[in-house]
Amino acid sequence: MEGSEILSLEVIEASLSTKIIGRAQRLDNLSNVNGDSSDLSKNELWDEIDSTNTRAAALAAQGCAEGVMVIARQQTAGRGRLGRAWISPPDAGISFSVVLRPKIELSRLPLITLATGVAVAQAIEASAGVRPGLKWVNDLTLSGRKLGGILAEMPGQALIIGIGINVRLKADELPEELKDKVEWLERAVGGPVDPNLIVMELAHKLEAQYELLKAGKTAEILGLWRAYSVTIGQMIEARSANQVITGKAIDIADSGALIVEAEDGTRTELVAGEISIRLQDGSYC
Ligand code: BTN
Repeated sequence: MEGSEILSLEVIEASLSTKIIGRAQRLDNLSNVNGDSSDLSKNELWDEIDSTNTRAAALAAQGCAEGVMVIARQQTAGRGRLGRAWISPPDAGISFSVVLRPKIELSRLPLITLATGVAVAQAIEASAGVRPGLKWVNDLTLSGRKLGGILAEMPGQALIIGIGINVRLKADELPEELKDKVEWLERAVGGPVDPNLIVMELAHKLEAQYELLKAGKTAEILGLWRAYSVTIGQMIEARSANQVITGKAIDIADSGALIVEAEDGTRTELVAGEISIRLQDGSYC
């Protein structure tokens, strides 16, 4: 870790030229539901926290301004999708959440995960010089391994976007079952990666995608998503509680659903869940 940069709110905030993400302004008429005068427009950087998404949800419930960021150097109870744990050891990655209050139709909300995926991929490409892939619906991959993930939640009126990116994991400290499945930026790049630079890029790219989403520019978002996709064109398997769907992922619908074509030509639109991609040996990962 010698010479490696660690997360600093001062450094990040000094480099932001966004209007919303990370730049919440306290409005005079915005009152804290607790009736106290704590400033609910401040970004937060925690040395250690249970989960940045949980903290962001609590701030949102208190009426915090849109755009507030919660970042952590370590999470002790980081959450992934489908009730899984997300491992965030000290200074090993970026645990980032932001509170958004979009005024868009509910039917378009699933697109936020795809738009966020585009933003994270662009931010990593711009700051670390490697091009991640996007695996429907919320995974970032590199060399076929998981580099990061997105957890969008709506615990109340606000939308919480949570992003985890692996920057410098230690192979020997990983649980056995993850060792061959995860990737981190410093290993891929072969040198130090500054997490502050990634967060700074992320805030800007995320804001650009958010603006596209609010302006109804779905085609633009999906066009970018397709360009990073490692899913489209692959044979996939999707499992849910009561069915297994296998087929070729042929495209993304305007709703954000994954269009899968079975051998007999039947098409299914997957709206949620998780997919596995078929490898050359016929197994799925
Ligand atoms: C997944 O791939 O299942 C989603 C992982 C999301 C992890 C991030 S880390 C920051 C934020 N806080 C959490 O507890 N989870 C998300």
